Formats: sequence, structure tokens, C-alpha cells
Amino acid sequence: MALDSDPARLARVDDTLRRLRLVARTRAADARRPAAWWDGQPFEAIVLDAPCSGSGVVRRHPDIRWLRRPEDIAALAAVQAELLNALWPLLAPGGRLLYATCSIFRAEGDAQIDAFLQRHGPGGAHLEGLSPGHLLPLSDNWGTVTEASPADGFYYALLSKPHAP
Ligand SMILES: C[S@@+](CC[C@H](N)C(=O)[O-])C[C@H]1O[C@@H](n2cnc3c(N)ncnc32)[C@H](O)[C@@H]1O
Repeated sequence: MALDSDPARLARVDDTLRRLRLVARTRAADARRPAAWWDGQPFEAIVLDAPCSGSGVVRRHPDIRWLRRPEDIAALAAVQAELLNALWPLLAPGGRLLYATCSIFRAEGDAQIDAFLQRHGPGGAHLEGLSPGHLLPLSDNWGTVTEASPADGFYYALLSKPHAP
């Protein structure tokens, strides 16, 4: 199931699914309001590709530098926290939630996930594997993608929900 609050964005997801001959349910809805779209079946896995400042992709979208305002970051971080809070209860015990943003800011990355882990306490949620990861578009990261161009900025954290004790 794929969810986006913007029907135009979702139409592009539908196009991609058709092109790849994949089948998925798509739904235009606010992910922060599961009562409107969730059938009550817990998810084994959730990918939260969260709305963010896009500060990690200004190389490809230079207009972001002019369009974003400092106060946008706190507002976006608040929406990200709301999305995490709304989606976490929908995850089955033992399930995993991948949180991702294309941002260079800690407010949308480490600080967001640190606050989430604090809210859930030591036994409530775990960080998995090599996460979190934060790639910054710095010159010493260039070689990890291509020698010719720097990487985009990107953050991810893979969270797992413990089984009931
Ligand atoms: C980084 S993009 C994800 C793009 C998506 N992975 C794709 O391939 O099309 C973040 C998306 O979150 C959507 N969004 C923002 N707030 C939302 C909300 N409250 N509920 C659901 N989607 C939301 C935006 O419309 C935007 O398309």
C-alpha cells in the first residue's frame, strides 16, 4: 500500500507501478490520520519517505535554496514527528520502519530519531543494523558515488519494534 496526501504525486506512483508491471494499492490521504484509511491489519514493514526540506538535493534542485526559509525546518520536523507517531502503532511487533529524508539537517535526521527513541523508552523501539546513516554532500564523500559529482545529502534510520515480552 502506498500513501501520499498529494493526488498528483500519487498519480506518478501509479504511472511507475504500471510501467514496472507491479500491483499495489495507492491512496491519497493524510498519513497522520490512519482512522481514515487503515483497515486495522498491522504492517510488517513501513517506509516513511518523509516530507523534508530537500536540503540534501539542492545540487539537482537549486530553487530549494531560495524557496526554503529557516522557520520551515522546525515546521517540517514537527510534521515528521507527527508521521512517526501516527505510523509506529500500525507496525506489527517484530516489524520494521524505515525513516528517510533527503536532508542535511540534524533536525530532520539524528535529532528527530533521538527524540523518537526517547519517547518510546529503551524497550520500545530499536535502531537496526548500520543505521542511522547520514550522507552529506561534502567533497570527501564524492568518491563514494562518482568521482565527477558529489553525492546527495540523505538520512536514514531503520527502526524495529520489539516483540511483546
Ligand atoms: C520525499 S516525498 C516521497 C516521494 C515518494 N517516495 C515517491 O516516490 O513518490 C514526501 C511526500 O510526502 C507527502 N506528504 C506530505 N505530508 C503528508 C502527509 N501528512 N501524509 C501523507 N503524505 C504526505 C508529500 O506530498 C510528498 O510527496
